[in-house]
Amino acid sequence: MKIAKRAERIEPFYVLEVAKAAAQLSQDAGNDTKPMIHLTIGEPDFTAPPLVQEAAIRAIRAGATQYTPAIGLGLLRERISDWYRQRFGIDVPARRIVVTAGASAALQLICTALIEAGDEVLMPDPCYPCNRHFVIAAEGCPVVVPTTAAERYQLSAEKVAENWSDKTRGVLLASPSNPTGTSIHPEELRRIHAFVQSKGGITLLDELYLGLSHDDAFGQTGLTLDENVISINSFSKYFSMTGWRLGWLVAPEPLVPVIERLAQNFFLCPSTVSQHAALACFEPESIAEYERRRAEFKARRDWFIPALEKIGFKVPVAPDGAFYAWADCSEWFHAWDVPSSWEFAFEAMKRARVAISPGRDFGAAETARFVRFSTANSMDNLQEAVARLSALRP
Ligand SMILES: Cc1ncc(COP(=O)(O)O)c(C=O)c1O
Repeated sequence: MKIAKRAERIEPFYVLEVAKAAAQLSQDAGNDTKPMIHLTIGEPDFTAPPLVQEAAIRAIRAGATQYTPAIGLGLLRERISDWYRQRFGIDVPARRIVVTAGASAALQLICTALIEAGDEVLMPDPCYPCNRHFVIAAEGCPVVVPTTAAERYQLSAEKVAENWSDKTRGVLLASPSNPTGTSIHPEELRRIHAFVQSKGGITLLDELYLGLSHDDAFGQTGLTLDENVISINSFSKYFSMTGWRLGWLVAPEPLVPVIERLAQNFFLCPSTVSQHAALACFEPESIAEYERRRAEFKARRDWFIPALEKIGFKVPVAPDGAFYAWADCSEWFHAWDVPSSWEFAFEAMKRARVAISPGRDFGAAETARFVRFSTANSMDNLQEAVARLSALRP
């Protein structure tokens, strides 16, 4: 069968492939070995809090399961707007908010709406792989620009300017980033956006981990800059609802009818039950629980990163958000006789029963030396993972 070129150009999401291999290894081993500790996929080990679960069950029992408007329930868009006001002190009118089937659908809608065949989009290396792939699916070209630890693995205005070409359509930045958990400094973001605007380009901000910010210097949304910033967000991470498939985007007002037209065609609407459930995310009781979890993620980071560094990993920049540790594992290569982080991740899975993500997914520049640990796991499991690796250290 002849496969479309655009599909051929999309690589697997290797994190999921590695997670699949780890699950298979566990299954094959049965009860003969220690259980695998999964630190691959970036998903909270918490589930939706009680009020959210109850709201979902109520919606199902009430038969509130028909299609909603393609851009989401009006009430949910209002609640998200209120959240921006309460949490960030900014006015984001509900009419600029589109509810989507996760950030993934939001990214697909935005890329389809704004990217022409051959358009280039600048992104940092390392970055979240699917963001490159959404651009490719829209027949654009992701241009990944190597970044350094000194730059917090984020683009600077200078690097955006240096790499801007006649074909560049804009930038796609994630702050805090996956895989590094590091954010763009607000002043740098202002400079990048000003440059992009001067070129008539678009600033796409993936703010999926904004709710899980651990540092006041960074935890502000780029939507404060002006109405041209496009922000993508989700119920997956801060709100612990990965499998519920619900997210949203904030777009400039003239873009909303275009997005709506695409959403009508592609998705009809985001999951109705999930939308009814998500209304309860904003109740004070739920927010209190999310804030408790945020503190727990921070406590895990504070314990895990120094512990990793003690056993031969280097984390060049302490993450200021999310739940990842982007760690150089090259000190282990000689002792374990592996050439890169790819083989290292498979060896860790076999030798220590600790599943981690090799850097390959996230770019090309230095990724052969790096692995990503997801700390969205219990403190007990993180401590056990470090103990197991420590016993096998070079
Ligand atoms: C940076 C980033 N953007 C987007 C997504 C997609 O998230 P969602 O579950 O909302 O589709 C992820 C998921 O891990 C992510 O890390």
